[in-house]
Amino acid sequence: MTSTPRWPDIDGIAYGGDYSPEQWSPETWREDVALMREAGVNLVSIGIFSWALLETSEGVFDFSWLDEVVELLHANGIRIDMGTPTASPPAWFFANHPDARVITRDGVVMGFGSRGMASHSAPAYREAAVRIATELAKRYGQHPAVVLWHVHNEFGVPVGEDYSPHAVREWRLWLQRRYGSLDALNKAWGTAFWGQHYTDWEHVGAPAAAPSTVNPAQRLDYARFTDHQLRACFIAERDAIRAHSDRPVTTNFMANQHNGCDLWAWAREVDIVSDDHYLWAADEEGEIGLAIAADLTRSVGGGAPWILMEHSTSAVNWQPRNVAKRPGEMARNSLSHLGRGADGILFFQWRASRSGAEKFHSAMLPHAGTDSRVWREVVDLGAKLGRLGDVRGSRVHADVAILWDFESFWAQDLEWRPSEDVSHDERIRAYYERLWRDGITVDFALPGHDLSGYKLVIAPAQYMLSRTDADNLNRYVEAGGTLLVSFFSAVVDEHDAVHEGGFGAPLEPALGVRVEEHLPMREGATGAIDWNGTVVPVDVWQEDLVVTGAEVRATYVAGPAAGEPAVTRHAHGAGTGWYVSTRPDAAGLAAIMGAVYADAGLAPAQLPAGVEVIRRHGEHHDFVVAINHGPDAASIAVDGVDLLTGDEIKGMLNLTGGTAAVIRTEAQHTPH
Ligand code: GAL
Repeated sequence: MTSTPRWPDIDGIAYGGDYSPEQWSPETWREDVALMREAGVNLVSIGIFSWALLETSEGVFDFSWLDEVVELLHANGIRIDMGTPTASPPAWFFANHPDARVITRDGVVMGFGSRGMASHSAPAYREAAVRIATELAKRYGQHPAVVLWHVHNEFGVPVGEDYSPHAVREWRLWLQRRYGSLDALNKAWGTAFWGQHYTDWEHVGAPAAAPSTVNPAQRLDYARFTDHQLRACFIAERDAIRAHSDRPVTTNFMANQHNGCDLWAWAREVDIVSDDHYLWAADEEGEIGLAIAADLTRSVGGGAPWILMEHSTSAVNWQPRNVAKRPGEMARNSLSHLGRGADGILFFQWRASRSGAEKFHSAMLPHAGTDSRVWREVVDLGAKLGRLGDVRGSRVHADVAILWDFESFWAQDLEWRPSEDVSHDERIRAYYERLWRDGITVDFALPGHDLSGYKLVIAPAQYMLSRTDADNLNRYVEAGGTLLVSFFSAVVDEHDAVHEGGFGAPLEPALGVRVEEHLPMREGATGAIDWNGTVVPVDVWQEDLVVTGAEVRATYVAGPAAGEPAVTRHAHGAGTGWYVSTRPDAAGLAAIMGAVYADAGLAPAQLPAGVEVIRRHGEHHDFVVAINHGPDAASIAVDGVDLLTGDEIKGMLNLTGGTAAVIRTEAQHTPH
């Protein structure tokens, strides 16, 4: 995608959700559209799971009911995001094409009665998916109510990797294109280890379950292959639609859910980025996880506005404990997404399902009906978003980038790593959380991106780093950037082979340090470092560092590396490279980050606890989205007009506990 998305033809902020009319009678449809209007809904996604009712047997189509729904929505001024139903092929499809079923890594052939696509590599599936997408595009592609296409649903879940014979055949072809020769493949995978040398392409299998750990380079490539195959399914449907419709095409991502899709690559293929996000109930500060997902979604789309395709009005139904949202939380969540670049706020789903696996999932129209808290808040949110049309198209600016590299995560998540306590999610969250509390807005980026616009780049979990990407980071520092690298980074190259020169060697120019040995700690063990005379507890990991130019800023005082350097700072060219070789506690990390901010020329925003403030820059105005997640009243300094209330704010905005405001204010200059 370019950073100018093709926005669907819709006024203001998009508001609505997934709508499943196939689960209800035509009388209910009429009630639905009346209530949608009451709630200010202007966009619904339909048809996502309707394949069995649209193609009733192979090649036999019945669009009559969908025609009626489309006309009803159109007559009521509600725009349509038309789904292709290919995430849930009908029973007849699997009966006719049993070979198109997915086979798991353990050899289990997936059954029917749930959802989940067929084998991404089965020709029958590809043909059937393109056929139904084509028929839909021919029929509705120019309909005035259809403003957006929603291909499939969340590619990569519930099935991503497939080990069927179709997949294995395609995998060999993919490998031949990637490596050209078996010699190159043998070298890249390091097949001399455990005698895996290949002499015939036909002998190269998928990395299915085996007696012991399977070659990690082979598994990493299988993850890449799976991502490629899923994307090819998307592209085939997208192109089938484009042949008959000029409306933008999207597919709903799952940023931050690790569904096997490299969203940097996917974002280039869609006309507009959209994302689904659900809070983790176990996370008591779910708004921080939400912010990570929203910032990641904006970043993969090159900073352009995006659509929140799904979130929940209250509880979901698939977590161990499905905690309901409390009053005001749905609006706060929605405005956090909006503040971080979403110009569409949609939900799963419009009306709660009475039957099936998701009947305990909340909805815009809950089982309790319209005399309910959720419904009243849904109507209120629709009214609020209706006042925010001016915000649309404005952009978020960030001075800090955190590296987010899906391929590195795939590699790191394989077996037999030094410690199961080392998690990329956990490290990213720790650094992001510090920045969130300091009111510093973050973009995510790949290590190979142009990072020159950022004052600070953080690599909390860059296990895999190619020499080329490492050189990019070295150059970033040389040119004046501040780089902070956390432990277990730059360990392996793009084939999951340890870098020549040892762990971290490619970043030695920027960091002035190399890692001689990893020193993972026992479960529950703690150590400590001395940071400017303060003892900071650390756990999980320490390292034996070899300092080759850096200044030592903290030393281990307890744990396996006691007496050795722990945190270093290196002047390289016009910039600075920090290395943090352990996991300090939150207060310790805050202290270290204070010093890093000073190098980067960043100033924390001094916000009251639990208050989130994000700025969107428009052509004529800026918009400050301020959210008080805490229970107590809080104030922030800002001038302008509160678009939600119409009140003029002179100098100080007071937010009662749990509330949010969107202030139109004077435009600020942004450096890039
Ligand atoms: C999403 C999915 C929806 C629905 C929802 C429930 O991941 O796309 O179809 O299942 O979860 O939270």
